[in-house]
Amino acid sequence: MSINSNYFSLLSKLPPYVFSVVNDLKYKARRNGEDIIDFGMGNPDQSTPKHIVEKLLESSAQGKNHRYSLSAGLPKLKLAISDWYRRNYDVDIDSEKETIVTIGSKEGLSHLMIAMLSPGEVVMVPDPCYPIHSFSVLIARGDIRSYDSFSENLMIKSIEDGLSKSPKPKALIISFPSNPTTQTVDLSFFERIVALAKKHKIVVIHDFAYADICFGSYKAPSFLQAAGAKDVGVESFSLSKSYNMAGWRVGFMSGNEEVISALRRVKSYLDYGIFQPIQISAITALNETKDCVNEISNTYESRRNRLIESFGNSGWEIDKPDATMFIWAKIPEKYREMGSLEFSKKLITDCKIAASPGIGFGKNGEGYVRFALIENEQRILQAARSLKKLEL
Ligand SMILES: Cc1ncc(COP(=O)(O)O)c(C=O)c1O
Repeated sequence: MSINSNYFSLLSKLPPYVFSVVNDLKYKARRNGEDIIDFGMGNPDQSTPKHIVEKLLESSAQGKNHRYSLSAGLPKLKLAISDWYRRNYDVDIDSEKETIVTIGSKEGLSHLMIAMLSPGEVVMVPDPCYPIHSFSVLIARGDIRSYDSFSENLMIKSIEDGLSKSPKPKALIISFPSNPTTQTVDLSFFERIVALAKKHKIVVIHDFAYADICFGSYKAPSFLQAAGAKDVGVESFSLSKSYNMAGWRVGFMSGNEEVISALRRVKSYLDYGIFQPIQISAITALNETKDCVNEISNTYESRRNRLIESFGNSGWEIDKPDATMFIWAKIPEKYREMGSLEFSKKLITDCKIAASPGIGFGKNGEGYVRFALIENEQRILQAARSLKKLEL
């Protein structure tokens, strides 16, 4: 049987990532023996802290941990999550009803959309955004309505405009500190979002992946700290970045009881829970002091400083972000017209630097490239030197 291209109707909504164009160039160059400095994907380059790895080794040696686990997560892990919220944000989370363990944020967000949407229902997503924010909606057969995600006031206005259009949106996705724009907000912004959500009767989903990657005196607030937030929404957290555990696939979603319950129901059909030793190691991660988290955040802060300073010395002035493992850089004037994809290709071919083109995050990302701080400071300096091949 030959299957025609309309058979998999969803695939027409899932074009190959723009990023794959740059990735292909990167792999080709590397195959030719070139040294590419890779600021492409937000994939932490450092190891998971030793005490967490040791817990994995110890618990995976025990046969009782080899069986199916619980789809919603081990009760002790959910208790650790509840303690984590109380300690870090002074937020009360009922460990049985108001939180669920996810196989990383991407899994939780995607299955929540499947739990929540009927075909054609609308979700408001930021533009530019982390791609799963829009693709999770499309995978669940929903429709996306974008809002401008640059300044706070512009965002609120753009969200309000979107909420008053027909068909009425069912949910709103927000994410701060933001990937890719690195934008941060304070608690009053979340309070405005809660008020909007109550007024328009929508659910808010806050992706808090960079909760701990904050610099200087800035501390990112949790959405759940806003009064009334649990009435309208949930927040997703990931251990991928705070603990360098990207490959382990563990996170959690917490907040509104009905939303968590819907996700729990869908997941109970789909998975048997994360490999138990990983969940046990996650308990260790959340319960221990935050020294290792601070160390990880400090590494990104030093790299941020090095990149901003050295790229500036090479003639590319870039705004300094207060949070995340990214630099969101306006393309230098002279090259802006060529667009972010062509400029990213030029960075690879002329300077041996891989970055993500802004257009890959949405149309409002055009004019920017994103650098992930996953190369060490020596390599950042090497990149700054090779930028001199451009006319900046
Ligand atoms: C905003 C945001 N959310 C979620 C994720 C993915 O998290 P996880 O590894 O838990 O799926 C990332 C990873 O880059 C991200 O930037």
